[in-house]
Amino acid sequence: MATTPTQVACDIKSVELADMGRKRIDWANQSMKVLQIIRKEFIKNAPLKGIRISACLHVTAETANLAIALRDGGADVALCASNPLSTQDDVSACLVRDYGIPVFAIKGEDNETYYQHIMAALDHKPHITMDDGADLVTTILTKRQDVGEGIIGGTEETTTGVIRLRAMAKEGVLRYPIIAVNDAMTKHLFDNRYGTGQSTIDGVIRCTNVLLAGSKFVVAGYGWCGRGLAMRARGLGADVIITEVDPTRALEAVMDGFRVMAMAEAARLGDVFVTVTGDKNVIRGEHFEVMKDGAIVANSGHFNVEIDIPALDKMASSKRTTRPFVEEYSMKDGRKINLLGEGRLINLAAAEGHPASVMDMSFADQALSVDYLVKNHKSLEKKVYAVPEDLDKRVAKLKLESMGIKIDRLTPEQEEYLASWSEGT
Ligand SMILES: NC(=O)c1ccc[n+]([C@@H]2O[C@H](COP(=O)([O-])OP(=O)(O)OC[C@H]3O[C@@H](n4cnc5c(N)ncnc54)[C@H](O)[C@@H]3O)[C@@H](O)[C@H]2O)c1
Repeated sequence: MATTPTQVACDIKSVELADMGRKRIDWANQSMKVLQIIRKEFIKNAPLKGIRISACLHVTAETANLAIALRDGGADVALCASNPLSTQDDVSACLVRDYGIPVFAIKGEDNETYYQHIMAALDHKPHITMDDGADLVTTILTKRQDVGEGIIGGTEETTTGVIRLRAMAKEGVLRYPIIAVNDAMTKHLFDNRYGTGQSTIDGVIRCTNVLLAGSKFVVAGYGWCGRGLAMRARGLGADVIITEVDPTRALEAVMDGFRVMAMAEAARLGDVFVTVTGDKNVIRGEHFEVMKDGAIVANSGHFNVEIDIPALDKMASSKRTTRPFVEEYSMKDGRKINLLGEGRLINLAAAEGHPASVMDMSFADQALSVDYLVKNHKSLEKKVYAVPEDLDKRVAKLKLESMGIKIDRLTPEQEEYLASWSEGT
């Protein structure tokens, strides 16, 4: 494993990039007011003293601010990437050089290196794992059972990770309690919806410069991310089409004013396609077969399995990279289909991920969940837990305060009224 002049164990692109990373981290920090408050408390009380954390997250400026806050709380943090394309190499360099935080992540790393980096983060012998997609927990379960012993708990950032962890709990193989940070209201309502909504459009536009006004924009999946993406694409003048498998969500999309149809039909109409389902092979051979010449296809769901890329590879006669993060596939009938960011989450591959202001809440939830685990792990079972409601509400309250927004409070009379079943009769 490489070391830098600072002798911090790491594998990063180059420590020379640290000055740029410093500016990026400071810029993000300006918009992370809730995390700043938690960081101050952490500095004062050092609640995480002696706790080793292995974090597998997108290595961005926002994540850097979380890692710094945890370190200031007394934790010893090691970080690896949760996706081969989402790392900001300058941010990693700054974390290593200026904060002595071991980072194992290089943007564009191949699959083998990606898993080597996960192993390196686990060599840290964590008490707490922090996942975005459950790769740490899965690796501990399958390949690194040696690390499992000292672990008191973990946190999970995203929908796909929570689904995997619930499956483990159901099968009785989960080895320690996990807090599903994704399920906090202050996480998915804002991060998945507004964060993914805006940053996915940002990723698509940055790498293609496509005009969305007047385009037919197909969103696969009308969950938290899909709702945000559809809303923002409409805001830019696109004619948005939704595909779904859940009848209630499909109905919701209809009543939100979108066209809803099966992918087989949407595939013929779309100019731009984005999958955000957490599912696999949502766009596949039969859909590529009927797509228009010049169609753009991207994914913003967690794993790069939502688009059947092997099928596209087989169907194409050739491919070339036309712009950064754009692969143009020439089909045998002469049509071109453009795949963005190797089918990996496009907001992180081609743009910078979510804005700091929204990650402020997600990472405040992460920091407080770690603090909660340290204090309460003895009473927790090997299950997936929700973020405690008071913690979730505190994050919302702090965010509102940081925005200078005051809200009403219940009067004693209203409290009594709302708590009573006999009132109103
Ligand atoms: N890009 C990012 O930065 C980012 C941020 C948050 C979450 N995510 C990921 O995005 C994905 C979606 O997250 P979410 O919170 O919106 O989940 P969600 O469960 O709220 O929504 C997913 C929706 O997709 C639908 N779906 C499933 N299979 C489908 C199919 N074959 N065709 C059409 N629709 C289908 C489901 O019915 C559901 O309504 C997950 O993988 C999650 O981890 C990415």
